[in-house]
Amino acid sequence: MTLLPPAAASRTVPGPKGVPVLGSLPQWKRSTAEFLLRTQRDYGEISRIRLGPQSVYLVSDPEAVDHVLRGNNGNYVRGTLYEQFKIVMGDGLLTTDGDFWKAHRRAMQPAFLRRAVAAVGPYTVDATREMLDGWEEKARRGEPVDLVTETLRLTLITLSRSLFGFDIRPATPVLKDVVDNVIEVMFKHGTLGELLPSWVPTKRNRLIARDRRVFTRLVREIREHHAATGEGPLMGLIEAASDPATGARWTDAEVRDEMLTIFLAGHETTAVALLWTLLSAAGHPSAREELEAEVDGVLAGRDPTVEDVERLTFTQQVVDESLRLYPPIWIYPRDAVEADELGGYPVPAGSSVLLSPLVSHRNPRYWQDPETFDPHRFDPDVAADRPRMTYFPFGGGARMCIGNSMALLELRIALAMITQRFRLSLVPGGFVRYGDTSISLRPMGEVLVTPRPRAERSGRGAA
Ligand code: HEM
Repeated sequence: MTLLPPAAASRTVPGPKGVPVLGSLPQWKRSTAEFLLRTQRDYGEISRIRLGPQSVYLVSDPEAVDHVLRGNNGNYVRGTLYEQFKIVMGDGLLTTDGDFWKAHRRAMQPAFLRRAVAAVGPYTVDATREMLDGWEEKARRGEPVDLVTETLRLTLITLSRSLFGFDIRPATPVLKDVVDNVIEVMFKHGTLGELLPSWVPTKRNRLIARDRRVFTRLVREIREHHAATGEGPLMGLIEAASDPATGARWTDAEVRDEMLTIFLAGHETTAVALLWTLLSAAGHPSAREELEAEVDGVLAGRDPTVEDVERLTFTQQVVDESLRLYPPIWIYPRDAVEADELGGYPVPAGSSVLLSPLVSHRNPRYWQDPETFDPHRFDPDVAADRPRMTYFPFGGGARMCIGNSMALLELRIALAMITQRFRLSLVPGGFVRYGDTSISLRPMGEVLVTPRPRAERSGRGAA
């Protein structure tokens, strides 16, 4: 599909010149997100960035994003940048294309349909309650909590219990370290260590080998548990899945890779989203008060049910706005198989195209005062006026996040329960900035907050 008249297709794509040989690599390395935001501001919604010997196209024009994700999505594959993910996840939903991907997605999709996802609600409630009981203890002792550790633990426990039927709590301390490391590995490019084969005992390779050992052991335990109990709806689908062409059951490697994919894609993202949502609400008193009023009114001191969640509309808008400013998967690449045109510019075969919800979500053409946190941007009448693909925290088209309904349900429940019981404030001197050296928009370092119980107002009775 041509988005502009053919004459425009011969235009040179604008973009920063950078320095000889390296191009814009130094600015990219200094702060990728800031650099990409500047590039959008200075060169528009389609630009070309030179990174050493390679070039990438940064695309935020909504029509062009739609073209890549939906209109001509067959032409845009995961490509070279996703190869890095395979080191850890192997060949799973996130890293594969074509018939293999299609068959795997079809096999796993039923666990993520609306009715199935509703079952995640009670697990989220249980895990959040347990977390908040711990916060109450800490509040009594005047201790802060680290939101990074807490949210990661919460989403890992919920995911493991609801999809795999497995209580992962005893393993969470070990897993945090492992997950931190693999997320780094998956995104880091241009280091010498990357070029060496995996058998060379570099620090990086030793850590990757350790992480894979931990994951492999975990996968084995979960499968054994499922074989004994039958628990875990996704586990059931994965164990029963077969190749549509041959009828052969998935191999152990296929099962392992999909389990790792779901674990890694599913819990860290949701944890990062919850963390930014909590910080955003805590830092904006008028939004926080509106949120508290809604939660107290709808829940009247009870734990939320899935039906309650439908009525927590402002809570949803707080989550939406936080996902706009801080989309956990803030950048994702595609490679063009054949030559194409985007926004009237030629894109040669083999080009890498970068889509970035972070950049698109801060485009001043569609978002007034884009750096400001304002959940009322998602009031239904306001949101209805925005073009498609100006907002895509979960991607789009056939490759849209399989877990988006699950994530949104978890986020609303956890935010509502935390709001019901606590007001959070950053410990004095605490300053939080997003780190953009990873595929996910994690904050740099720990995020210490003081939880203050608000029992009288929420109607839950004294703490
Ligand atoms: C707030 C939380 C989440 C965010 C922001 C998020 C974001 C995304 C995005 C942007 C993509 C598309 C990437 C691309 O097209 O290159 C994606 C894909 C994916 N996500 Fe999520 N995700 C979240 C939660 C989850 C959960 C809870 C699960 C599973 C339990 C999950 C599993 C996956 C998988 C398997 C894919 C690959 C889908 C495919 O290509 O078929 N995600 N996610």
